[in-house]
Amino acid sequence: MGGGLGRGVRLCALGALALLCALTARTAPARADSAACPWLDNSKSVNERASELLSAMTLDDKIAMVHGDQIWEHYGMAGHVPGNSRLCIPELGVNDAGAGVGDFEVGTTAFPAGIAQAASWDPALQTQFGRTLGWEAWQKGVNVQLAPGVNIARVPMNGRNFEYMGEDPYLSGQSAAAEIRGIQQNPVIATVKHYALNNQETNRQSASSDVSERPLHEIYLPAFEAAVKQGHVGAVMCSYNRINSVYACEQPQTLTDVLKKELGFDGFVMSDWEGTHSTVNAANAGLDMQMPDGSYFGDPLKAAVQAGQVPMARLDDMVMRILRPMFETGIFEHPAAAEPQAFAADVSTSDDVALARKVSEDGTVLLKNDGGALPLDGNGKRIAVIGTAAGPHGAALAYGGGGSSHIPEAGWTPNVVSPLQGITQAGLAKGDLVTYADGTAIADALAAAKASDVAVVFASDAETEGQDRSNLNLTFGACVAIECVQTPIDQSKLIEAVAQANPNTIVVLDTGGPVVMPWVNQVNGILEAWYPGQEDGNAIAAILFGQVNPSGKLPQTFPSSEADLPTRTPQQYPGVNGSDGIPHVSYSEGLDVGYRWFDSQNIKPLFPFGFGLSYTTFRYSGLTATPGSVSFTLTNSGRRAGAEVAQVYVGDPPAVGEPPRQLKGYRKVFLLPGESQRVTLPLDARSFAYWDDARHGWAVAPGRYTVSVGGSSRDLPLQETVRVRGSWLGP
Ligand code: BGC
Repeated sequence: MGGGLGRGVRLCALGALALLCALTARTAPARADSAACPWLDNSKSVNERASELLSAMTLDDKIAMVHGDQIWEHYGMAGHVPGNSRLCIPELGVNDAGAGVGDFEVGTTAFPAGIAQAASWDPALQTQFGRTLGWEAWQKGVNVQLAPGVNIARVPMNGRNFEYMGEDPYLSGQSAAAEIRGIQQNPVIATVKHYALNNQETNRQSASSDVSERPLHEIYLPAFEAAVKQGHVGAVMCSYNRINSVYACEQPQTLTDVLKKELGFDGFVMSDWEGTHSTVNAANAGLDMQMPDGSYFGDPLKAAVQAGQVPMARLDDMVMRILRPMFETGIFEHPAAAEPQAFAADVSTSDDVALARKVSEDGTVLLKNDGGALPLDGNGKRIAVIGTAAGPHGAALAYGGGGSSHIPEAGWTPNVVSPLQGITQAGLAKGDLVTYADGTAIADALAAAKASDVAVVFASDAETEGQDRSNLNLTFGACVAIECVQTPIDQSKLIEAVAQANPNTIVVLDTGGPVVMPWVNQVNGILEAWYPGQEDGNAIAAILFGQVNPSGKLPQTFPSSEADLPTRTPQQYPGVNGSDGIPHVSYSEGLDVGYRWFDSQNIKPLFPFGFGLSYTTFRYSGLTATPGSVSFTLTNSGRRAGAEVAQVYVGDPPAVGEPPRQLKGYRKVFLLPGESQRVTLPLDARSFAYWDDARHGWAVAPGRYTVSVGGSSRDLPLQETVRVRGSWLGP
């Protein structure tokens, strides 16, 4: 868990943020001297410090560390683990999530949702975001941040689609590892979630995700693997669902055999909230911390240890796993800010807000731009802004998704800049005339559209934790916490009507994932801005007016219709009850998830994985590929500066039984008009490997592999084959 604590130390040492340093000092353990607590001596190794502390702990001390006590919930925190002043152990403030410091917290920045972050395809930006998220968290008294979420988008109807990083294991893994590295540059532990196979909200607390070994390893685990091996994540949250009939938080194969042994995870597994269902089974299967209370891991665990049902060595391992990341990230030296002061503090700086805007700008995807309809860079234009999502009320709902990741969960709204505000402000500066109709009275919307040079229609969906979307249509709606506001206004009908009234119609989508677009051929431009966070209006105005050139790419396939999705039977989605009375979800599509399915079935998606336009154009040339690397030249062949996400896909020899092509590398490159850059991306044995069910490990089949390079999974102008020798990589 490299890096830790640097930022806090540096700031205190420089004498900056004196108040903050004072706050920190107040929360320092009562007897923070290394004579009484020799493990505070950070010249020793983390393992030494943790073992030394462990050996000073009583059974009660240990039990107190492995479950939450719920005492900070009134500060809006999701969870809390008490400190121990005798042993100089700081308390843990545990809180959501991946789009900012949420729950009931006030005074934090609302960043774009996970799917928008992933759509930036920019690990450096994601690390910067993680660092800022962790820093805000720490100032609010949080030192365990419940992010990032990396469940693969198996079904786009998933109510938490917006929280995750899309459908590709490699992209999700790189995104998550980058964010984790940033979070843990603070004295804050990141928590990758939800482990594993929590790919839908329907029956999320009871359904069993039934999956076989190969798709488990190739599709659903690699993002967690990257979080562990590349991000050195301190905590993993096990999920609500069952995995092959056993609750994820008491599943010995996934928790111990895979996560801890195979992937080498040495941090702790924390249960999702009320996701623990037993004491002995869960502890022995590999769960290290119950959240948010001690109903199983409090007195019942103590009794089970005393009765020998859970070995003391297992309890020691649980505690060691919690202590290690605490030492590694510097939590002992830099406990998070004290409550209740931290709860009241406003920690959102102008730099943080600027970063929220940048992430939104860089994650917004230009899906269609006929006849150069965008950017709207002329002066003195009449612009009709249409749709509830553009107005102050709608934007206050559509900037984030619903549920535990919402910023904040209740009682306070961050300074959301609505699209109408952002566009009016930016348009005014160039003499544009901006009018607004919310679209609830269609006649007003049409009148506004007719009287304008361009109509920009904003449409949103209403994704939330706790329930799936019933279809991929655009309904009107938005969610705050777990409550959704839905009205029967059909936004697709509104778009169609506006497009008839004004042939120059642009659609901006504030959706947490794919929607179907029956109007796709009737409009000139389409932007997917996801849930853009509080800088919503400023970010979208910058893109619409061309101050920012869009560079986001889809982390998820947009299907033309739901009938094209790989989950074609109720057994696959949402699952059917088995003879055991449990809803079973059959992952029978195997590896054919997302674009892998569309490619293997030759189905044309509405917009493919990896797709996204720019206001400039790019040319790819000069590919050379070996089993160890890919090089090519990328040129900005248009007239504006812009960034392209160059993508590398590998196609295995047919006999291996893999989907036609899979993402194995990417790089976002910024180029001035006419500029070229030679790009080299590494490949490794895993780029060519498949999971061998019979031998339970990774293998490379000998043969010719196709390496393709381009700007989306369906636009790969460069191709070469490389001959790869067979090898056995093991688990
Ligand atoms: C969610 C988690 C979240 C936890 C704590 C659960 O309902 O599934 O993602 O971190 O609550 O708020």
